[in-house]
Amino acid sequence: MLDIITLPDRKLRVASEPVERVDDEVRRFLDNMLETMYDAPGIGLAAIQVGVERRMVVCDVAKREDEDAEPEPLFLINPEVLSVSDDRVVREEGCLSIPEYFADVERPDGVRVGYLDRDGNQQEIEATGVLATCLQHEIDHLNGKLFIDYLSKLRRDMVIRKFTKQARQATSATA
Ligand code: NI
Repeated sequence: MLDIITLPDRKLRVASEPVERVDDEVRRFLDNMLETMYDAPGIGLAAIQVGVERRMVVCDVAKREDEDAEPEPLFLINPEVLSVSDDRVVREEGCLSIPEYFADVERPDGVRVGYLDRDGNQQEIEATGVLATCLQHEIDHLNGKLFIDYLSKLRRDMVIRKFTKQARQATSATA
């Protein structure tokens, strides 16, 4: 299992680098990311959230929509938003790097994403609903962007302050 970094870790603001070659090492890492995401549990995870500055994302929204659903993992390497729909939707978002904090975020309802799959083949996916939100949220991570960036400055600063304080308390408790 991989360690998930949380706010205010500065790494979360780093823009990740493209993956140059899809090899066994990359596939093993993606598998570990998926296990870590399921264990958390979450519906999406970007490599930077486990401290790796590479453009890789895993997600699986199947269970969110139906508890008994079969897993439908998606592995996206170097994902890129190709186009978004004009209609927008407000959905509640959370993030494994900002534990137990949820807020409404408005985003395009549909998205088309190009990416390399775990065999290194170029793929395209058209998504709507929760999957579209998840893909946009995770691709934002690769650009150092967090969902709290869509909130008002007041709310964002409040969240950052809360997590900074928690981190400081945790550090002094173990010192
Ligand atoms: Ni997130």
